[in-house]
Amino acid sequence: MPFNPQALSLNRTIQSANPAVYELLSRRGKAIYFPKLGILSQSAEAVGKTINATIGTALEDTGAPMVLGSLASLVNLKRTDGFSYAPSSGRPEIRSSWKRMMLTKNPSLQGKTFSLPVVTSALTHGLSMAGYLFIEERDSIISPDYYWENYDLVFGNAHGGRIDTFPTFTENLRFNVGALHDKLLRAPAGKKAVILNFPNNPTGYTVTESEAYGVRAALVEAAEAGNSIAVLIDDSYFGLVYEQGVLRESMFALLADAHERILAVKLDGPTKEDYVWGFRVGFVTFAIKNGTAELYNALGAKLAGAIRGNISNASNISQSLLLQAYAGTSYDAEKEEKYRTLERRYRKIREVIAAHPEYGNYFHPLPFNSGYFMCIRIVSGKAEAIRRTLLDKYSTGTISQNDVLRLAFSSTPLAMIETLFENCYHAAKECA
Ligand SMILES: Cc1ncc(COP(=O)(O)O)c(C=O)c1O
Repeated sequence: MPFNPQALSLNRTIQSANPAVYELLSRRGKAIYFPKLGILSQSAEAVGKTINATIGTALEDTGAPMVLGSLASLVNLKRTDGFSYAPSSGRPEIRSSWKRMMLTKNPSLQGKTFSLPVVTSALTHGLSMAGYLFIEERDSIISPDYYWENYDLVFGNAHGGRIDTFPTFTENLRFNVGALHDKLLRAPAGKKAVILNFPNNPTGYTVTESEAYGVRAALVEAAEAGNSIAVLIDDSYFGLVYEQGVLRESMFALLADAHERILAVKLDGPTKEDYVWGFRVGFVTFAIKNGTAELYNALGAKLAGAIRGNISNASNISQSLLLQAYAGTSYDAEKEEKYRTLERRYRKIREVIAAHPEYGNYFHPLPFNSGYFMCIRIVSGKAEAIRRTLLDKYSTGTISQNDVLRLAFSSTPLAMIETLFENCYHAAKECA
Protein backbone atom coordinates (compact mmCIF):
# COMPACT_ATOMS: atom_id res chain seq x y z
CA MET A 1 0.00 0.00 0.00
CA PRO A 2 1.51 3.39 -0.94
CA PHE A 3 2.03 5.79 1.95
CA ASN A 4 -0.43 8.62 2.45
CA PRO A 5 1.14 11.98 1.49
CA GLN A 6 0.77 13.10 5.14
CA ALA A 7 2.88 10.11 6.25
CA LEU A 8 5.44 10.88 3.54
CA SER A 9 5.69 14.45 4.80
CA LEU A 10 6.32 13.27 8.40
CA ASN A 11 8.86 10.75 7.09
CA ARG A 12 10.74 13.47 5.22
CA THR A 13 10.85 15.59 8.39
CA ILE A 14 12.18 12.66 10.45
CA GLN A 15 14.67 11.61 7.80
CA SER A 16 16.12 15.06 7.42
CA ALA A 17 16.24 15.64 11.21
CA ASN A 18 17.82 12.28 12.03
CA PRO A 19 18.10 9.37 9.53
CA ALA A 20 18.78 6.89 12.36
CA VAL A 21 15.35 7.58 13.87
CA TYR A 22 13.78 6.99 10.48
CA GLU A 23 15.64 3.69 10.27
CA LEU A 24 14.18 2.68 13.64
CA LEU A 25 10.57 3.02 12.46
CA SER A 26 8.72 -0.16 11.57
CA ARG A 27 6.86 -0.30 8.26
CA ARG A 28 3.66 0.55 10.13
CA GLY A 29 5.55 3.34 11.89
CA LYS A 30 6.58 4.73 8.53
CA ALA A 31 3.04 4.49 7.17
CA ILE A 32 1.20 6.12 10.07
CA TYR A 33 0.32 9.80 10.32
CA PHE A 34 -2.06 11.94 12.31
CA PRO A 35 -4.71 13.07 9.82
CA LYS A 36 -4.56 16.84 9.57
CA LEU A 37 -6.95 16.86 6.65
CA GLY A 38 -10.43 15.32 6.64
CA ILE A 39 -12.80 15.27 9.62
CA LEU A 40 -10.41 16.75 12.17
CA SER A 41 -9.33 19.75 10.13
CA GLN A 42 -12.84 20.42 8.85
CA SER A 43 -14.16 20.30 12.44
CA ALA A 44 -11.41 22.66 13.58
CA GLU A 45 -12.35 25.13 10.85
CA ALA A 46 -15.97 25.12 12.05
CA VAL A 47 -15.16 26.09 15.66
CA GLY A 48 -17.02 29.29 16.62
CA LYS A 49 -19.44 29.23 13.67
CA THR A 50 -23.14 29.95 14.38
CA ILE A 51 -24.07 26.44 13.32
CA ASN A 52 -21.48 23.75 13.81
CA ALA A 53 -22.76 20.51 12.34
CA THR A 54 -19.37 18.82 12.36
CA ILE A 55 -19.10 17.43 15.88
CA GLY A 56 -19.50 13.69 16.47
CA THR A 57 -20.75 14.10 20.04
CA ALA A 58 -24.31 14.88 21.08
CA LEU A 59 -25.08 18.37 22.38
CA GLU A 60 -28.16 19.78 24.04
CA ASP A 61 -29.99 22.61 22.29
CA THR A 62 -28.04 24.91 24.65
CA GLY A 63 -24.73 23.62 23.26
CA ALA A 64 -23.76 21.76 26.46
CA PRO A 65 -22.75 18.09 26.13
CA MET A 66 -25.71 15.74 26.60
CA VAL A 67 -25.24 13.94 29.89
CA LEU A 68 -27.50 11.52 31.73
CA GLY A 69 -28.52 13.00 35.07
CA SER A 70 -27.71 9.80 36.90
CA LEU A 71 -24.07 10.09 35.72
CA ALA A 72 -23.79 13.89 35.99
CA SER A 73 -24.71 13.67 39.67
CA LEU A 74 -21.70 11.38 40.24
CA VAL A 75 -19.12 13.57 38.55
CA ASN A 76 -17.94 16.82 40.08
CA LEU A 77 -16.35 18.18 36.90
CA LYS A 78 -17.35 20.49 34.06
CA ARG A 79 -19.31 18.41 31.53
CA THR A 80 -16.72 18.99 28.85
CA ASP A 81 -13.96 17.75 31.18
CA GLY A 82 -15.89 14.74 32.38
CA PHE A 83 -17.84 13.50 29.40
CA SER A 84 -16.39 14.86 26.14
CA TYR A 85 -13.52 13.39 24.13
CA ALA A 86 -9.92 14.29 24.89
CA PRO A 87 -7.60 14.91 21.92
CA SER A 88 -5.81 11.80 20.58
CA SER A 89 -2.47 13.05 21.90
CA GLY A 90 -4.04 13.96 25.25
CA ARG A 91 -5.23 17.11 26.99
CA PRO A 92 -2.66 19.88 26.40
CA GLU A 93 -2.71 20.89 30.10
CA ILE A 94 -1.84 17.40 31.38
CA ARG A 95 0.85 16.98 28.74
CA SER A 96 2.58 20.15 29.84
CA SER A 97 2.04 19.40 33.56
CA TRP A 98 3.56 15.97 33.15
CA LYS A 99 6.54 17.42 31.28
CA ARG A 100 7.09 19.94 34.10
CA MET A 101 6.81 17.16 36.67
CA MET A 102 9.29 15.04 34.71
CA LEU A 103 11.84 17.83 35.07
CA THR A 104 11.28 18.03 38.82
CA LYS A 105 11.56 14.27 39.22
CA ASN A 106 14.60 14.08 36.91
CA PRO A 107 16.70 17.19 37.51
CA SER A 108 19.39 16.01 35.10
CA LEU A 109 16.92 16.41 32.22
CA GLN A 110 17.50 20.17 32.60
CA GLY A 111 19.06 21.52 29.45
CA LYS A 112 18.37 18.34 27.44
CA THR A 113 15.81 18.22 24.67
CA PHE A 114 12.81 15.93 24.90
CA SER A 115 9.33 15.84 23.43
CA LEU A 116 6.04 16.86 24.93
CA PRO A 117 4.57 13.65 26.41
CA VAL A 118 1.71 12.08 24.45
CA VAL A 119 -1.12 10.59 26.51
CA THR A 120 -1.87 6.89 26.14
CA SER A 121 -4.41 4.65 27.83
CA ALA A 122 -1.81 3.82 30.51
CA LEU A 123 1.53 2.09 30.13
CA THR A 124 0.48 -1.16 28.51
CA HIS A 125 -1.04 0.86 25.70
CA GLY A 126 2.05 3.08 25.53
CA LEU A 127 4.24 -0.02 25.20
CA SER A 128 1.98 -1.35 22.49
CA MET A 129 2.09 1.97 20.61
CA ALA A 130 5.90 1.97 20.88
CA GLY A 131 5.74 -1.55 19.41
CA TYR A 132 3.52 -0.22 16.60
CA LEU A 133 6.04 2.49 15.73
CA PHE A 134 9.29 0.59 16.15
CA ILE A 135 8.82 -3.21 16.13
CA GLU A 136 8.68 -5.15 12.91
CA GLU A 137 7.72 -8.84 12.49
CA ARG A 138 10.63 -10.94 13.77
CA ASP A 139 12.45 -7.98 15.39
CA SER A 140 14.19 -8.78 18.66
CA ILE A 141 13.69 -6.69 21.75
CA ILE A 142 16.68 -7.09 24.03
CA SER A 143 15.59 -7.40 27.66
CA PRO A 144 16.88 -8.66 31.00
CA ASP A 145 15.49 -12.17 31.56
CA TYR A 146 13.36 -11.02 34.48
CA TYR A 147 10.68 -9.02 32.72
CA TRP A 148 6.95 -8.35 32.97
CA GLU A 149 5.29 -11.32 31.29
CA ASN A 150 2.84 -9.09 29.39
CA TYR A 151 5.73 -7.96 27.15
CA ASP A 152 5.24 -11.29 25.35
CA LEU A 153 1.68 -10.34 24.40
CA VAL A 154 2.47 -6.69 23.72
CA PHE A 155 5.55 -7.17 21.56
CA GLY A 156 5.20 -10.82 20.52
CA ASN A 157 1.53 -11.46 19.85
CA ALA A 158 0.59 -7.92 18.84
CA HIS A 159 3.65 -6.94 16.80
CA GLY A 160 5.41 -10.19 15.88
CA GLY A 161 8.55 -9.28 17.82
CA ARG A 162 10.57 -11.54 20.09
CA ILE A 163 11.94 -10.80 23.55
CA ASP A 164 15.64 -11.66 23.39
CA THR A 165 16.88 -12.00 26.95
CA PHE A 166 20.20 -11.77 28.76
CA PRO A 167 20.73 -12.85 32.38
CA THR A 168 19.58 -9.97 34.58
CA PHE A 169 22.18 -10.54 37.28
CA THR A 170 25.83 -11.56 37.35
CA GLU A 171 26.97 -14.33 39.70
CA ASN A 172 27.80 -11.56 42.18
CA LEU A 173 24.21 -10.40 41.94
CA ARG A 174 24.98 -7.13 40.20
CA PHE A 175 23.03 -5.94 37.17
CA ASN A 176 24.57 -7.73 34.20
CA VAL A 177 25.83 -4.79 32.17
CA GLY A 178 28.35 -7.10 30.45
CA ALA A 179 25.60 -9.37 29.13
CA LEU A 180 23.68 -6.38 27.75
CA HIS A 181 26.90 -5.14 26.14
CA ASP A 182 27.45 -8.55 24.49
CA LYS A 183 23.88 -8.75 23.19
CA LEU A 184 24.23 -5.30 21.64
CA LEU A 185 27.65 -5.78 20.13
CA ARG A 186 27.76 -9.45 19.09
CA ALA A 187 24.99 -9.12 16.48
CA PRO A 188 25.75 -7.33 13.21
CA ALA A 189 25.29 -3.56 13.41
CA GLY A 190 21.82 -2.31 12.43
CA LYS A 191 18.51 -1.53 14.02
CA LYS A 192 18.18 -2.64 17.65
CA ALA A 193 15.48 -2.36 20.31
CA VAL A 194 16.07 -2.64 24.05
CA ILE A 195 13.59 -2.55 26.90
CA LEU A 196 14.57 -1.50 30.42
CA ASN A 197 12.23 -1.50 33.41
CA PHE A 198 13.39 -0.09 36.76
CA PRO A 199 12.05 -0.59 39.41
CA ASN A 200 11.61 -3.97 37.80
CA ASN A 201 8.63 -6.25 37.71
CA PRO A 202 9.11 -8.98 38.97
CA THR A 203 12.40 -8.53 40.88
CA GLY A 204 11.91 -5.13 42.48
CA TYR A 205 15.44 -4.25 41.35
CA THR A 206 16.65 -0.85 40.20
CA VAL A 207 20.17 -0.40 38.89
CA THR A 208 22.67 1.40 41.09
CA GLU A 209 23.95 4.72 39.80
CA SER A 210 27.20 3.14 38.61
CA GLU A 211 25.34 0.27 36.89
CA ALA A 212 23.11 2.85 35.19
CA TYR A 213 26.16 4.61 33.77
CA GLY A 214 27.47 1.20 32.69
CA VAL A 215 24.22 0.59 30.79
CA ARG A 216 24.55 4.01 29.18
CA ALA A 217 28.16 3.33 28.19
CA ALA A 218 27.22 -0.05 26.63
CA LEU A 219 24.46 1.59 24.59
CA VAL A 220 26.75 4.42 23.48
CA GLU A 221 29.45 1.93 22.44
CA ALA A 222 26.86 0.01 20.41
CA ALA A 223 25.66 3.25 18.78
CA GLU A 224 29.27 4.19 18.00
CA ALA A 225 29.64 0.76 16.37
CA GLY A 226 26.90 1.74 13.89
CA ASN A 227 23.75 0.50 15.60
CA SER A 228 20.60 2.59 15.75
CA ILE A 229 18.88 1.79 19.02
CA ALA A 230 15.36 2.40 20.30
CA VAL A 231 15.52 2.12 24.08
CA LEU A 232 12.07 1.65 25.59
CA ILE A 233 12.15 2.73 29.22
CA ASP A 234 9.26 1.30 31.22
CA ASP A 235 9.05 3.58 34.25
CA SER A 236 5.84 2.11 35.68
CA TYR A 237 7.15 2.05 39.25
CA PHE A 238 9.12 5.29 39.03
CA GLY A 239 9.87 6.92 42.38
CA LEU A 240 9.54 3.82 44.56
CA VAL A 241 13.24 3.44 45.41
CA TYR A 242 14.13 2.55 49.00
CA GLU A 243 17.95 2.51 49.13
CA GLN A 244 20.76 5.01 48.74
CA GLY A 245 23.08 4.70 45.76
CA VAL A 246 20.25 3.34 43.63
CA LEU A 247 19.23 5.30 40.53
CA ARG A 248 16.58 7.81 41.58
CA GLU A 249 16.09 9.37 38.17
CA SER A 250 14.86 7.59 35.08
CA MET A 251 17.29 5.94 32.65
CA PHE A 252 15.56 8.30 30.23
CA ALA A 253 17.38 11.26 31.82
CA LEU A 254 20.72 9.49 31.30
CA LEU A 255 19.95 8.50 27.72
CA ALA A 256 18.21 11.68 26.53
CA ASP A 257 21.43 13.13 25.15
CA ALA A 258 23.51 9.94 24.97
CA HIS A 259 23.94 9.62 21.21
CA GLU A 260 22.37 10.67 17.93
CA ARG A 261 21.61 7.01 17.21
CA ILE A 262 19.99 6.27 20.59
CA LEU A 263 16.30 7.15 20.70
CA ALA A 264 15.05 7.06 24.30
CA VAL A 265 11.32 6.32 24.58
CA LYS A 266 9.92 6.86 28.06
CA LEU A 267 6.77 5.01 29.05
CA ASP A 268 5.41 6.26 32.32
CA GLY A 269 2.25 7.42 34.00
CA PRO A 270 0.16 7.76 37.08
CA THR A 271 -1.00 4.11 37.21
CA LYS A 272 1.45 3.18 39.97
CA GLU A 273 3.02 6.57 40.62
CA ASP A 274 -0.31 8.01 41.73
CA TYR A 275 -2.10 4.79 42.71
CA VAL A 276 -4.76 5.03 39.97
CA TRP A 277 -4.56 1.62 38.30
CA GLY A 278 -8.03 1.84 36.73
CA PHE A 279 -7.73 5.40 35.39
CA ARG A 280 -5.88 4.21 32.27
CA VAL A 281 -3.66 7.21 31.66
CA GLY A 282 0.00 7.02 30.67
CA PHE A 283 2.55 8.96 28.67
CA VAL A 284 5.08 8.36 25.92
CA THR A 285 7.99 10.82 25.63
CA PHE A 286 10.88 10.82 23.15
CA ALA A 287 14.42 12.11 23.54
CA ILE A 288 17.55 11.94 21.42
CA LYS A 289 20.79 13.88 21.34
CA ASN A 290 20.28 17.09 19.33
CA GLY A 291 16.59 16.26 18.89
CA THR A 292 14.75 19.14 17.24
CA ALA A 293 11.19 20.34 17.79
CA GLU A 294 10.40 19.23 14.21
CA LEU A 295 11.62 15.69 14.91
CA TYR A 296 9.69 15.41 18.19
CA ASN A 297 6.54 16.86 16.61
CA ALA A 298 6.74 14.39 13.74
CA LEU A 299 7.21 11.43 16.10
CA GLY A 300 4.37 12.77 18.26
CA ALA A 301 2.13 13.06 15.19
CA LYS A 302 2.87 9.45 14.24
CA LEU A 303 2.15 8.31 17.77
CA ALA A 304 -1.08 10.33 17.88
CA GLY A 305 -2.08 8.74 14.56
CA ALA A 306 -1.42 5.25 15.93
CA ILE A 307 -3.52 6.12 19.00
CA ARG A 308 -6.34 7.58 16.89
CA GLY A 309 -6.51 4.40 14.84
CA ASN A 310 -6.39 2.22 17.93
CA ILE A 311 -8.36 3.67 20.87
CA SER A 312 -9.05 7.13 19.42
CA ASN A 313 -8.16 8.85 22.70
CA ALA A 314 -7.54 8.12 26.38
CA SER A 315 -10.02 8.72 29.18
CA ASN A 316 -10.82 12.43 29.52
CA ILE A 317 -12.41 12.09 32.95
CA SER A 318 -9.22 10.50 34.27
CA GLN A 319 -7.04 13.23 32.77
CA SER A 320 -9.29 15.88 34.36
CA LEU A 321 -9.16 14.28 37.81
CA LEU A 322 -5.38 13.94 37.64
CA LEU A 323 -4.97 17.56 36.56
CA GLN A 324 -6.93 18.68 39.60
CA ALA A 325 -4.85 16.49 41.91
CA TYR A 326 -1.57 17.79 40.43
CA ALA A 327 -2.73 21.36 41.01
CA GLY A 328 -3.69 20.62 44.62
CA THR A 329 -1.54 21.57 47.59
CA SER A 330 -1.69 18.19 49.34
CA TYR A 331 -0.59 16.04 46.38
CA ASP A 332 3.10 15.75 47.32
CA ALA A 333 2.40 14.97 50.97
CA GLU A 334 -0.19 12.33 50.06
CA LYS A 335 2.28 10.62 47.73
CA GLU A 336 4.97 10.71 50.38
CA GLU A 337 2.62 8.99 52.84
CA LYS A 338 1.92 6.11 50.43
CA TYR A 339 5.62 5.80 49.63
CA ARG A 340 6.37 5.50 53.37
CA THR A 341 3.81 2.70 53.72
CA LEU A 342 5.48 0.70 50.97
CA GLU A 343 8.95 1.53 52.28
CA ARG A 344 8.04 0.23 55.77
CA ARG A 345 7.02 -3.11 54.26
CA TYR A 346 10.25 -3.20 52.26
CA ARG A 347 12.34 -2.59 55.42
CA LYS A 348 10.36 -5.24 57.29
CA ILE A 349 11.21 -7.78 54.60
CA ARG A 350 14.91 -6.93 54.92
CA GLU A 351 14.61 -7.33 58.69
CA VAL A 352 12.79 -10.68 58.45
CA ILE A 353 15.31 -12.12 55.99
CA ALA A 354 18.24 -10.95 58.14
CA ALA A 355 16.66 -12.50 61.24
CA HIS A 356 16.14 -15.93 59.62
CA PRO A 357 19.34 -17.39 58.18
CA GLU A 358 17.57 -20.79 58.08
CA TYR A 359 15.46 -19.52 55.16
CA GLY A 360 18.66 -19.71 53.09
CA ASN A 361 18.41 -23.53 53.13
CA TYR A 362 15.31 -23.26 50.97
CA PHE A 363 15.32 -19.91 49.20
CA HIS A 364 17.38 -16.79 48.55
CA PRO A 365 16.09 -13.33 47.76
CA LEU A 366 17.04 -11.98 44.35
CA PRO A 367 18.48 -8.46 44.56
CA PHE A 368 15.73 -5.95 45.34
CA ASN A 369 15.69 -2.33 46.43
CA SER A 370 12.56 -0.73 44.98
CA GLY A 371 9.08 -1.05 43.53
CA TYR A 372 6.19 -3.31 44.47
CA PHE A 373 7.79 -6.75 44.48
CA MET A 374 10.66 -8.97 45.50
CA CYS A 375 11.47 -12.51 44.39
CA ILE A 376 12.79 -15.52 46.21
CA ARG A 377 14.75 -18.10 44.25
CA ILE A 378 14.01 -21.64 45.31
CA VAL A 379 17.02 -23.75 46.28
CA SER A 380 15.44 -27.14 45.66
CA GLY A 381 11.99 -28.19 44.52
CA LYS A 382 9.67 -26.47 42.14
CA ALA A 383 8.43 -22.91 42.67
CA GLU A 384 5.05 -23.90 41.23
CA ALA A 385 4.69 -26.76 43.75
CA ILE A 386 5.52 -24.36 46.57
CA ARG A 387 3.00 -21.87 45.25
CA ARG A 388 0.30 -24.55 45.28
CA THR A 389 1.26 -25.63 48.80
CA LEU A 390 1.15 -22.02 49.95
CA LEU A 391 -2.34 -21.68 48.49
CA ASP A 392 -3.75 -24.97 49.72
CA LYS A 393 -2.13 -25.29 53.14
CA TYR A 394 -1.15 -21.77 54.16
CA SER A 395 -3.87 -19.65 52.56
CA THR A 396 -1.14 -17.58 50.92
CA GLY A 397 -1.10 -16.42 47.31
CA THR A 398 2.15 -15.79 45.43
CA ILE A 399 3.22 -15.83 41.77
CA SER A 400 5.57 -18.54 40.51
CA GLN A 401 7.78 -17.81 37.50
CA ASN A 402 10.30 -20.53 36.61
CA ASP A 403 12.48 -21.00 39.70
CA VAL A 404 11.27 -17.99 41.65
CA LEU A 405 8.26 -16.89 43.63
CA ARG A 406 7.28 -13.26 43.27
CA LEU A 407 6.02 -11.69 46.48
CA ALA A 408 4.09 -8.43 46.16
CA PHE A 409 4.68 -6.37 49.27
CA SER A 410 2.58 -3.70 47.60
CA SER A 411 -0.46 -5.73 48.56
CA THR A 412 0.71 -7.40 51.80
CA PRO A 413 -0.06 -5.61 55.06
CA LEU A 414 2.97 -4.82 57.20
CA ALA A 415 1.64 -7.05 59.98
CA MET A 416 1.51 -10.07 57.64
CA ILE A 417 5.01 -9.86 56.21
CA GLU A 418 6.63 -12.04 58.84
CA THR A 419 3.92 -14.68 58.38
CA LEU A 420 4.25 -14.50 54.59
CA PHE A 421 7.93 -15.46 54.87
CA GLU A 422 7.32 -18.04 57.56
CA ASN A 423 4.70 -19.64 55.29
CA CYS A 424 7.10 -19.59 52.34
CA TYR A 425 9.73 -21.23 54.51
CA HIS A 426 7.47 -24.05 55.63
CA ALA A 427 6.04 -24.63 52.16
CA ALA A 428 9.51 -24.61 50.58
CA LYS A 429 10.78 -27.05 53.20
CA GLU A 430 7.87 -29.40 52.54
CA CYS A 431 8.42 -29.27 48.76
CA ALA A 432 12.23 -29.54 48.86
C1 LIG B 1 6.57 -3.42 34.28
C2 LIG B 1 5.18 -2.99 34.00
N1 LIG B 1 4.93 -2.27 32.90
C3 LIG B 1 3.69 -1.86 32.60
C4 LIG B 1 2.63 -2.20 33.42
C5 LIG B 1 1.25 -1.78 33.00
O1 LIG B 1 0.82 -0.61 33.54
P1 LIG B 1 -0.59 0.01 33.16
O2 LIG B 1 -1.57 -0.54 34.15
O3 LIG B 1 -0.36 1.48 33.31
O4 LIG B 1 -0.93 -0.37 31.78
C6 LIG B 1 2.83 -2.96 34.57
C7 LIG B 1 1.69 -3.32 35.42
O5 LIG B 1 1.67 -4.26 36.13
C8 LIG B 1 4.14 -3.36 34.86
O6 LIG B 1 4.40 -4.11 35.94
